[in-house]
Amino acid sequence: MTKGNASHSRRAAIKLSLAAAAVGLPGATWARNTPTVLTAGRAQVKPFSSQPTMTEAWGYNAQVCGPTLRVKQGDWLKLRFENDLKQPTSVHWHGLRIPNAMDGVGSITQPGVPPGGSFDYAFKVPDAGLFWYHPHMNSEKQIAKGLFGAIVVEEEAPPPVDREVIWTLFDWGLTDAYQLPGDRAFALWRGMKPFATRTKVTTNGVNAEQLVLRKGERVRLRIVNTSAGRRFALKFDRHHPHVIAWDGNAVKPYIAAKPIIVGNGERVDLIFDGQFEAGQRFDVTDHFDQRYKPDLEPTVITQIRYDQGALHAVGQLPPVSAPPPNEVAMPDLAQAERIDITLEQSLYEIGKVPQIGQAGVLLAALHNVPAQTKVPVWSMNGKVLFEDLQTFQCGSAAPIFRCQLGKTYRLRFINKTPTDHPMHLHGHTFLMVSCNGQPYPTQMLRDSFMVLRGESVEVAFVADNPGDWMIHCHRGLHSHGGMMGTFRVDA
Ligand code: C2O
Ligand code: CU
Repeated sequence: MTKGNASHSRRAAIKLSLAAAAVGLPGATWARNTPTVLTAGRAQVKPFSSQPTMTEAWGYNAQVCGPTLRVKQGDWLKLRFENDLKQPTSVHWHGLRIPNAMDGVGSITQPGVPPGGSFDYAFKVPDAGLFWYHPHMNSEKQIAKGLFGAIVVEEEAPPPVDREVIWTLFDWGLTDAYQLPGDRAFALWRGMKPFATRTKVTTNGVNAEQLVLRKGERVRLRIVNTSAGRRFALKFDRHHPHVIAWDGNAVKPYIAAKPIIVGNGERVDLIFDGQFEAGQRFDVTDHFDQRYKPDLEPTVITQIRYDQGALHAVGQLPPVSAPPPNEVAMPDLAQAERIDITLEQSLYEIGKVPQIGQAGVLLAALHNVPAQTKVPVWSMNGKVLFEDLQTFQCGSAAPIFRCQLGKTYRLRFINKTPTDHPMHLHGHTFLMVSCNGQPYPTQMLRDSFMVLRGESVEVAFVADNPGDWMIHCHRGLHSHGGMMGTFRVDA
C-alpha cells in the first residue's frame, strides 16, 4: 500500500493536532488505488531482504501479496480478471456474501478461467470488514505460490483510530535457494517428502513489516491469515489489544486472555493503544505449534517498534468501540434443523484413494514411492471431494447437506481427527453457538472458524443465499486431501 505523498503528511499533521486538542480520534484516510484489472501471473519477489536471489513466485498484478482492494460497503466491485498462468484458475472473494455465480469456485460456480482467458467479476458488496481474495482451483499450490490479496470493505462510520494497518500473514515454504518447490512437491500429500527448508512468515508478502506505534497512538491492526497451511496463535509482548471484529463482523470489544488463534482464511481486527517510549521494541510471536509440541520455542514473526512523537496523553483515549454491525439475518435457534458434520481422517493406499484412482498410482510413481504407500484422506460425514490432478476440475459429489431457502440450520462439526481444521463455508455468515456444548462468551458472526483437536463446534445460520456453495477445510493439505464438499441452498 503506498499512500505516501506530501499532502498526506500535511493532512495527517493537521488531523493529529485537531485530534490531540479534542482527544477525539480522526479515522484513517486512504488513497483509492483499487485496480480495475487483476492479472494472475508470474512475479519476481524478494520476501526477505537478506536473500541473495529473487524468488520466482506467482502473484496478482505481479505483486505478492496482490493489490489491496478497497470498496465502500454497499458499492459495486467490478474487475476484469485475466489469467496469465499456464493453468486454469479462478478468483474467490473469501467471506463476501455475493451471488453464487460470482463466488469464483472454478468448475463449481463458474468454469475455470483457462490460460490466456479472462472473466468479469461484478457484485455489490453487502458487508463491511476485512476480506481477502485467492484462487479456488489448485489452490493449495496457487495460494502457496503467492496468489492472494486483501479486500477492505469500508464501514460508513468506522471506529475512530489514528491509523489503520493491514497484515496479510503468509507463510513462505522456500527451498535452500529461496525458491518455491516445483510441481511435484505441490502434488497431493506433499508431506510424503520434506520439501521446504525455510518456512517463514511475512506480513504483506515482502519483508516482515513491523508494527510501528507511538506513545498515546491508537492503531487498528487488521490481520488475515492467507497462508496455505500455517495457523497462528499470536501474542504481542506486553501489549493487550482489544479484539473488535472477527471475519469483518463486530464483536463487543474484549481483551484476549490467551494467544489469539487465527486459522487459515480467518480475519481479526485489533485495537492497540501505544503506551511505551520511542525506541522500545516488543516481539510478536506465534505459539500455535506449541499446541502440539509444547517444548517448541515460539516463533518471532515480527516486532512492535515505538517511534518518536507522542500523540494523545496515555489514559485519555476514549473507550475502544467496535465497528457497526453487518446486517446478518439472526438464526432462530429453537426453530433450527440440526445437522452433524463429522470430520475424519482415514488412511488409504495411494493407488486406492476414492475418486483419484489411476492418478494416485501415477502420483506415487512421480514421488518414487510404492503404490501401496498409505496416505491420509480427510472427509466430512465420510464424503470426500478431489480436484482432478491435471485439469483441477472438482469431481462430482452429492452435496453434504441441503437447505431450504430462508430456513435456519444448526451445524455441529465434530472433530474426530488428531489435528485442527479451519472450516470455511461460502456465501453465508454464521453465528457461533457453542464449543463442546459451552456457549461462546461473546456473540460472534463468522464465515471461517477453527475446529481444534477434540472440539465439537456448533454454528447456526439462515440459508438465505441460493446455490451450490463450498464447504471445506482451509488447510491446503486437507482440502486437497478430500476435505471439501458442497452444500445446496434450494432456490
Ligand atoms: Cu478462502 Cu473456499 O475459500
Ligand atoms: Cu483440515
